[in-house]
Amino acid sequence: MNPPQNRPWTVYIETMGCQMNVLDSELVLGQLRARNYRQVDSVDAADVVLINTCSVRDHAEQKALSRLGVAKKPKKRNPDMVVGVIGCMAERDPDAIMENVPYVDLVCGPGELNKIPAMIEEVRATREKAVALTLDKKRKSTLLERSLEYDSVEALDLSRDPAPSANTLQSYIRIQRGCDKFCTFCVVPNTRGKERSRPPQQIVDEAKMLVDRGALEVTLLGQTVNSYLHQDGGKPVNMADLLYLLNDVEGLERIRFVTSYPGDFRDEIFEAMRDLPRVCEYLHLPVQSGSNNVLKRMKRQYTRESYLDLIARGRSIVPDMTLATDFIVGFCGETEAEFAETLALLDEVRYKNIFCFKYSPRPDTVADKALADDVPDAVKRERNQRMLAAQERISLAQTQAMIGQTVEVLVEGYSKAAIKAQEAEQSRGEEVSWRRSDQLVGRTRTDRIVVFCGTDAHIGRLVRVKLTGATALTLFGDPVDGVASLPPRRARSADGGLSIPIHG
Ligand code: SAH
Ligand code: F3S
Repeated sequence: MNPPQNRPWTVYIETMGCQMNVLDSELVLGQLRARNYRQVDSVDAADVVLINTCSVRDHAEQKALSRLGVAKKPKKRNPDMVVGVIGCMAERDPDAIMENVPYVDLVCGPGELNKIPAMIEEVRATREKAVALTLDKKRKSTLLERSLEYDSVEALDLSRDPAPSANTLQSYIRIQRGCDKFCTFCVVPNTRGKERSRPPQQIVDEAKMLVDRGALEVTLLGQTVNSYLHQDGGKPVNMADLLYLLNDVEGLERIRFVTSYPGDFRDEIFEAMRDLPRVCEYLHLPVQSGSNNVLKRMKRQYTRESYLDLIARGRSIVPDMTLATDFIVGFCGETEAEFAETLALLDEVRYKNIFCFKYSPRPDTVADKALADDVPDAVKRERNQRMLAAQERISLAQTQAMIGQTVEVLVEGYSKAAIKAQEAEQSRGEEVSWRRSDQLVGRTRTDRIVVFCGTDAHIGRLVRVKLTGATALTLFGDPVDGVASLPPRRARSADGGLSIPIHG
């Protein structure tokens, strides 16, 4: 089919939810770019509008429906527009989407995203709705069938665009799909299917390609990333083995991985973190609750004691490791005493930062079917606030204790918060006290955010920063070395390869 008015088709994509969705959107865009689509940043300018959705909490689904409303008027003006809902909500409840938003043309689950280009063409040619789901609700296909269909979506990761895209410094690599844990509150196994690990060679090749594109840091993605295990013939490759393989990728500076599951975490991973220079000393290890009773109701397959023991072992092997975690407060039947155990866990572990969520019942999960959502919303909110306030004190004590230290920062770019503050100053007609290009942001190996005054020349480099101030989540400082004394930035040679390594 010809593009409208002989110009390239344009696509607008909006992404909600986790890093996996961010990666999925990038890969879908790459496939469309390869077919000559051009990305635009407004719905009005788009021929194709895609909303990549999240189902983890009800709030995320409501937000997706309201974002879809933004396409209503433009779609009326331009009936040729294709409006698509992709990702977890598409897989979980396609009928609700079709009923609530009649102008949706395309619904595609996260396991079928490689079909998007063909689906768009089909809609444009026929004006019929196109639907691709891994679990065909009408056929009631089993999880086993779903896992057999897995290889079709492997094509999405393999299609990755080798051309540099907007953010080339840091990239995600999927190493695992789906989840088999079936925590009673969680919708992910229903939307992303069975756990499957990608072949290690493909992951290594992808890392090399991303380094060629300019990546200095890769983050390996999986729902329970530490249980990565690939075993197609030959020798099994586990998560620690994979870290060793990736540590050998020339030009890669930092390797991270999220999210780890506390139930089957092997010490070998800590040893790899200690022994491999590229593996960062940072672990996202969701605990969800500090109460054994609640953990049991959540079917989390570990106890408070075994979790604390795991952290103690990790810290004895990697003393400077930082930790982040997720909590759910107000889960079914959570008493004040059970919540108090969760609150106390904060002081015991002393995380770098936490993500804390109010329990949101999800249809078709065990908790939703078998347990009462009996903690009032006001109590959930109050517990959430107590958690965040307690953590803020802990984070602030940690960051303030770092003042005076010199840390290594991978400089990502201008600080968005600083830019916003400057724009606000300008719009109030105030004299701008500093230049936008002064405020740069980056992260330490331990995932702490550092803001400092620098120049364009710092971006994309590892810079030593002496810390002079701190809030709970942000460190401030001054670069130690002048730009002239930084190692050369990697430059792209004419054939797209890299000619100068960042470290000689
Ligand atoms: N292992 C996955 C977990 C996905 S869900 C990962 O990659 O992070 C992310 C977080 O959302 C979970 O750790 C949990 O804290 C939270 N969450 C999941 N289901 C939830 C629900 N029904 N209500 C509230 N929070 C939930
Ligand atoms: Fe969800 Fe538990 Fe898996 S939180 S993603 S079912 S480990």
